Amino acid sequence: MQEERLLSVVVTGAAGGIGRAVCERLARSGWQVLAVDRDAGRLVWTEQVANVAAFAADITCAQANQDFIAAAEEQFGGVDAVVLNAAVPMGGTLEQIAWADFEKVIAVNLMGTALGIRSALPALRRRGGGAILVTASTHGLAGEIENAAYVASKHAVVGLVKSVARDVGWEGIRINAICPGLTRQTGMTSFLEDPAIDPAIMGELVKGIPLQRCAEPDEMAAVMEFLVSPASAYVTGIAMPVDGGAITGSGLRGPASGPGNY
Ligand SMILES: NC(=O)c1ccc[n+]([C@@H]2O[C@H](COP(=O)([O-])OP(=O)(O)OC[C@H]3O[C@@H](n4cnc5c(N)ncnc54)[C@H](O)[C@@H]3O)[C@@H](O)[C@H]2O)c1
Repeated sequence: MQEERLLSVVVTGAAGGIGRAVCERLARSGWQVLAVDRDAGRLVWTEQVANVAAFAADITCAQANQDFIAAAEEQFGGVDAVVLNAAVPMGGTLEQIAWADFEKVIAVNLMGTALGIRSALPALRRRGGGAILVTASTHGLAGEIENAAYVASKHAVVGLVKSVARDVGWEGIRINAICPGLTRQTGMTSFLEDPAIDPAIMGELVKGIPLQRCAEPDEMAAVMEFLVSPASAYVTGIAMPVDGGAITGSGLRGPASGPGNY
């Protein structure tokens, strides 16, 4: 009888809210997980979770990307999926932002992700195929005020995903993007957890979301599991919004909403 092979996955940005949630969900589903983040101290949670190993790496370093893919191949015997999820936020209009910060966002969010894809492809080829998932954002699908560099970086990774999908599909390698809307319990949205947050600000934030609330990290993880698993075998090159419907509108009128449900 043929022995069943465990699926293995590398997840970057694994010390953060969404990254950790997807690691935990995939581990619960039986995947072997390599959890990667530049912040080793915030990966200690991996010690308490079966099937998850930690790896400290900065995704802006080409060698580091090769190292974590090699480590996963060595530990798990191969890599079936890679989730490129690490990113940094950066507010400001194009004129406000310091040029060094603009370069940093592009270096991490775009170039770091591109390096991850370049390192993942040979490993997936060695496995005979597999899946890459990039965490983009609704900011990869539409513009936003005072967020020019981040928005540009996320649009760029969506373009990368669509292009690479066309290049490597014939090899049995799929690549997709998830485009989260506002998600709680993450480093990027820690201000939402502040009990002193003005309810008016919260109301303003969710006003444009048809489902009238922010997402939980595990709601992203559920869709991410689908996009790396064989259940999505015929899906490639998409940038899937998971945003409570936030970007469905024309922007001219807000969605219908009952009183007080912000
Ligand atoms: N939270 C949201 O509302 C939201 C919305 C849309 C998209 N996203 C995207 O979701 C992804 C996950 O972010 P999150 O919301 O969990 O935020 P987070 O800040 O909790 O997690 C991001 C993680 O990436 C890591 N990281 C940053 N730069 C790195 C580097 N150079 N090398 C290695 N690791 C690095 C950080 O240490 C952090 O642990 C990001 O791509 C983000 O842009 C988040």
